Amino acid sequence: MSTSDRHETVITVKSEQETIALAAWIAERSQPGTVLALDGDLGAGKTRFSQAFAAAIGVAGVVNSPTFTIIKEYEGTKLPFYHMDVYRVSMPEADELGLDDYFFGEGVTIVEWASLIEPLLPPHRLELYIEHCGGEERRMTWTGIGQPYAAWCRQLEQMGAITDES
Ligand SMILES: Nc1ncnc2c1ncn2[C@@H]1O[C@H](COP(=O)(O)OP(=O)(O)O)[C@@H](O)[C@H]1O
Ligand SMILES: [Mg+2]
Repeated sequence: MSTSDRHETVITVKSEQETIALAAWIAERSQPGTVLALDGDLGAGKTRFSQAFAAAIGVAGVVNSPTFTIIKEYEGTKLPFYHMDVYRVSMPEADELGLDDYFFGEGVTIVEWASLIEPLLPPHRLELYIEHCGGEERRMTWTGIGQPYAAWCRQLEQMGAITDES
């Protein structure tokens, strides 16, 4: 597998419900070792996406932003779910966390503010950059690096999701 196998697609969602549906679509395809790297300003919807994802893999109860705990682990009925928020972590601190145990573990990982620790991310991952466009509208840039992520992005594009070169 090569990281040169890469695909990017832009999807504009009109409602929170569409974000939830996309999270469920990704959750359905997730496996042990799946890694999602989320970025976007405060309020873009990184945590909301993570909550919908968690629900879709069968995590019961409340999933909050792990800003202060950095990493929270949940048991889903389908897979364990590792939810990270690295906003307050320095690179040297992040390097001490042993993140590879999560990335290459039994569960699926979502990292909020992932670009802050880019050198520590696994080479194959699905990146999602969310931009607030007013109201519930969000512009989502999906970048699949390596497989199966690049294929997922091609499928998302073909599903008739709105692509936008602007
Ligand atoms: N299309 C959408 N996708 C995601 N969140 C949305 C959407 N529309 C409205 N929201 C709202 O925007 C807020 C996003 O907050 P949050 O997920 O905490 O952002 P972040 O984690 O990126 O800082 C939530 O209150 C959510 O209900
Ligand atoms: Mg958040």
